[in-house]
Amino acid sequence: MRRPIVAGNWKMNKTAQEAVALVVELKELVSDVKDVEIVLCPPFTALEAVSRCIEGSDICLGAQDMFWEKSGPYTGEVSAEMLLTLGCKYVILGHSERRTHFGETNQTVNRKVKTALESGLVPIVCVGERLEERRSGDAKKVVEDQVTRAFDGVPLGGAERAVVAYEPVWAIGTGLTATPDQAQEVHSHIRQILAELYNAEVAEGIRIQYGGSIKPENARDLFAQQDIDGGLVGGASLKAESFAGIIRGAQL
Ligand code: PGA
Repeated sequence: MRRPIVAGNWKMNKTAQEAVALVVELKELVSDVKDVEIVLCPPFTALEAVSRCIEGSDICLGAQDMFWEKSGPYTGEVSAEMLLTLGCKYVILGHSERRTHFGETNQTVNRKVKTALESGLVPIVCVGERLEERRSGDAKKVVEDQVTRAFDGVPLGGAERAVVAYEPVWAIGTGLTATPDQAQEVHSHIRQILAELYNAEVAEGIRIQYGGSIKPENARDLFAQQDIDGGLVGGASLKAESFAGIIRGAQL
């Protein structure tokens, strides 16, 4: 049985101080939730403050990106080790906003996935098609390519720890959500690809999140799908009440 995982991707929102206020409120609202893994992914500048604030709780910390090198002349970048020492367990990699605005490619995502796993971080590997790709009937093909290339050369003994997030680009921040059926179709395809890349048992164990305009109102129906194991939540994770509502939607 896969344990559902709901992660809040705060993107470029919340100062450290605002982050702490949100976490204090959230902790209270989800203190009785046991069967959902909760992950908070604040901006780098708030990681330390959030890390301190969730100490002693079951809430996990994640970053929104990292670089594949260990150290060196890479202005503006942070390494896996830096994130680990702040208490991060997860790192979001290949988010569509990074692919669109910051030149992230399947190849760079692959390098980062390998480094994350080798370092002991769990990557949340983001994939998803654009609107024109869905319209032309290429959604599954695009996602297949992204998954295959993200996991290229990633050995067993690492791959099974990864999380995949299916985030149709047309659903991110737009208010348009994939229907549970649309999402399930791609999720089961992703699981099939993972089974081909590794084996059926590994594919059955890997958690696949849905992301794209999740709200408390649509979360439960999405999470009820067989291959949807939680969500990666943007906008609705910025308010404690709506994020808590989504987390509750993932309770088994
Ligand atoms: P959204 O973002 O929930 O605001 O659509 C999801 C994401 O980008 O991870």
